[in-house]
Amino acid sequence: MSDSSSDDSPNKVFVWDLPTRLFHWVLVGAVATSLTAGELGNMGIHVISGHVVLALVVFRLGWGIVGGRYARFTDFVRGPRTVITYTKKFIRGESQEYTGHNPLGGWSVVALLGTLMVQVGSGLFANDDILTEGPLMKLVSKSTSDFLTYIHETSGTVLYVLIAAHLLAIMIYSAKGQELLGAMVSGIKSSRNLGPGVSDAKGNWLAAAAIAAVAAAIAYFVKTY
Ligand code: HEM
Ligand code: HEM
Repeated sequence: MSDSSSDDSPNKVFVWDLPTRLFHWVLVGAVATSLTAGELGNMGIHVISGHVVLALVVFRLGWGIVGGRYARFTDFVRGPRTVITYTKKFIRGESQEYTGHNPLGGWSVVALLGTLMVQVGSGLFANDDILTEGPLMKLVSKSTSDFLTYIHETSGTVLYVLIAAHLLAIMIYSAKGQELLGAMVSGIKSSRNLGPGVSDAKGNWLAAAAIAAVAAAIAYFVKTY
């Protein structure tokens, strides 16, 4: 339940469960490492951090189905009409504050996760014409691998744009008084404008551990294929 104790005290809602927050901050580290090592040609580190990204994305797909209330895709993937209405109201400064991801933010999550899937999926079949080959390259022809290497480089550029937009959006919301960053650290959103929300972000720990184990096993299996 929302625990506002008096009319002018902010509503506090436990929004982001620990698995979602851990997922996010480990993802930031693994993506930053993959991008940096990829650009510098440090392919040993690149391939390891790339497989960590693979495990994280698989985990998030599972957690999006059985995770805490606000981590579920059904909570934040909304139809185009809702997104357009929200965006118009946001531009006019009339949008309501959402407990979980807002309709626009929900699609930015889908875009980030989708691009990461393309990034990792193509990386598995990529090659650098020198020493590094994705572990699944042997399943395809050299020309297909070259094409997927091109996709890998292109989706890397898309990822830079999405990350920049992600950070810009967080700054814009902050300027408008919505502190999203603190919530991704503590799990708790606190705001006077927040509608009454339900603090139901716990999720199921057993399910989180099981999904994490399956995700790690898949990444390990692929890496050693
Ligand atoms: C299973 C994981 C991955 C594998 C096996 C893999 C493999 C590779 C290979 C073989 C290259 C060399 C391509 C070339 O020389 O043109 C490369 C480059 C690169 N990869 Fe990955 N990658 C993986 C995941 C990732 C992830 C998760 C990211 C970013 C989040 C990423 C970003 C990049 C970048 C930025 C480059 C440099 C592209 C360039 O030279 O312009 N990779 N990767
Ligand atoms: C490599 C860079 C990053 C990637 C790939 C990334 C990806 C993501 C993803 C996938 C989510 C959705 C969380 C979920 O529901 O699972 C998210 C949310 C979020 N991220 Fe990031 N992130 C990155 C960097 C950052 C940084 C550097 C910050 C802070 C300065 C940040 C702050 C946030 C916040 C506050 C949210 C919650 C937004 C909301 O309330 O709707 N992210 N990010």
